[in-house]
Amino acid sequence: MLDLVTAPVLALIANHTGLPAADLARLLGSPAKGVAADLALPCFQPAKAKALPPPKLAAELAAAINAAGLAQAVAAGPFLNLTFPPAQVATALLPALAADPAAALRSRAGSGRNAAIDFSSPNIAKHLAFHHIRSTMIGNSLARIYAAAGWKVTRINFLGDWGTAFGRLISGWKREGLTLAQLEGAADRVTFLNELYVRSSQAAKGDPALEEDARRWSKALEDGDAEARHLWQIFKDASLAEFKRVYALLGVDFDSWKGEAHYEDKMAPVLAELEGKGLTSIDQGATVVDLAAHGLKQFKKPMLLKRADGGTLYATRDLAAADDRFREFAFDRALYVVDLGQSLHFNEWFAAAKLLNRPYADRLRHIGFGVLLVWNDEPGEGLEPGWAKGRTRAGKVMLLREVLEEGIDRARAIIAEKNPDLVGDEREAIARAVGVGAVVFNDLKNARTNDVKFKFEEALRFDGETGPYLQYAHARLCSIERKSAGVSGDPALLARDDEKVVLLALARLQGQLERAVEADEPSIVAQALLALAAAVSSWLTAGNRDPSAKVICDDPAVAAARLTLVRAARGALGEGLCLLGLTAPERM
Ligand code: ARG
Repeated sequence: MLDLVTAPVLALIANHTGLPAADLARLLGSPAKGVAADLALPCFQPAKAKALPPPKLAAELAAAINAAGLAQAVAAGPFLNLTFPPAQVATALLPALAADPAAALRSRAGSGRNAAIDFSSPNIAKHLAFHHIRSTMIGNSLARIYAAAGWKVTRINFLGDWGTAFGRLISGWKREGLTLAQLEGAADRVTFLNELYVRSSQAAKGDPALEEDARRWSKALEDGDAEARHLWQIFKDASLAEFKRVYALLGVDFDSWKGEAHYEDKMAPVLAELEGKGLTSIDQGATVVDLAAHGLKQFKKPMLLKRADGGTLYATRDLAAADDRFREFAFDRALYVVDLGQSLHFNEWFAAAKLLNRPYADRLRHIGFGVLLVWNDEPGEGLEPGWAKGRTRAGKVMLLREVLEEGIDRARAIIAEKNPDLVGDEREAIARAVGVGAVVFNDLKNARTNDVKFKFEEALRFDGETGPYLQYAHARLCSIERKSAGVSGDPALLARDDEKVVLLALARLQGQLERAVEADEPSIVAQALLALAAAVSSWLTAGNRDPSAKVICDDPAVAAARLTLVRAARGALGEGLCLLGLTAPERM
């Protein structure tokens, strides 16, 4: 979109240097800090093409651009700084942005391509803890960003619904004679299962018969015993019902829920194939792939496929699942949104997929992320307050649902104070959007591989780099728009510099969508939105000091042009928030 502004200048430079305008467009970026210009072109590469020192070329180009009156150009050493007249920027950008702001942000670059995105993927019979927000919301945002860039997206929840824990749960359930009604009547069904698990483990301590019973049920489940399967299904359904309550709060959904159990009988063929191709060896009774022996020296240890006791492992299951997903979705890219702690696991089985010559081996991407740290001002005895992984003082994990609910409560209180006119259902909907949005945005605003620090007071600030700040900018634009819906003005009347800054931020936001896809990085969108909201807020605030700068000013034609920009910015902010998985209330 920025091309619409820069095309004449780029054509001149292309002509002068012989480089294609499209290549030049990629070089254009923000000017150095403190330089008052809209865009800057580093002249190193074009100067090479002309065999000139970069500062000399920058000076030549500046003179030519100024002479042609295409922009105000200044050479600063090897950089060419460009400033465009506001009306020229508005005329180029505003019509498309205002006609359908959400559509103007989307692209077709990914059309015809499929992405399979594995995210959230929690373990059954355990809680969704606060840290699960990372995979869940990075994955959700990537799914939305890919879709906005034209990809066909399949959202996959690879539930951890298998393992020895189920033997213990079944054994305890039978021993206590529990019923489905009791489970379903529990305030939180996962807590009910957790407590059952703890009681069952406790009882088995020092009781070999109970220990044996749990093992037998585990085996029965693996062998497909009907009663064991039935109870497993009950536990799984109960966990899913709790998970879905949280997903509903977050506005997240999935297309596929095939979990680990689904692949239980699909691993033998993969193992047989690996063996048949001579890729496996036996190491202390376990079946492994010695990746280093197959030329992959970066792997210091062999990759485990099957334990000595015959139990198959995580990597084998992921290989079987990837085959299945490739058959079903023919993915051009498969993303695994999983914390960086699992990097070795993904590197290993991605390498095994290559050794197996899987056609999709180069399409697999581990989308790693850093840990979530929570401010704890009540740490245990003798410990200083500080950042800690999400546990309360009692050492209990913080549940995602509880954090979101606390966010909503806090947001409700802030809104009641800031805007007492908002009541009833409307206030409740806003409290949800803001409370949840604050927690989610805090997680997405910085590069995903960084660790995230969470403090309610910070995340909920209306004036920081927060979700509520973006939502507030959106609501402020909505309220101006409500006063005069549907007007459409002449872009050439947008003559203010602060209006131009808003327009350029809008155009940049659109360009960032592709970059976010290529880097699998929601923070690129988040940062572009913060820049847009900052531009909007200084534009709107100018009207407080200077009545002629108000959107609805004395000149009706100028007001109409400004309202058109309000509509474009409101639409882009709303769409951008949606790409991050936040909702954008119209009032706050
Ligand atoms: N259930 C796993 C865990 O909680 C995450 C699964 C990630 N996805 C995958 N395909 N391995 O650690």
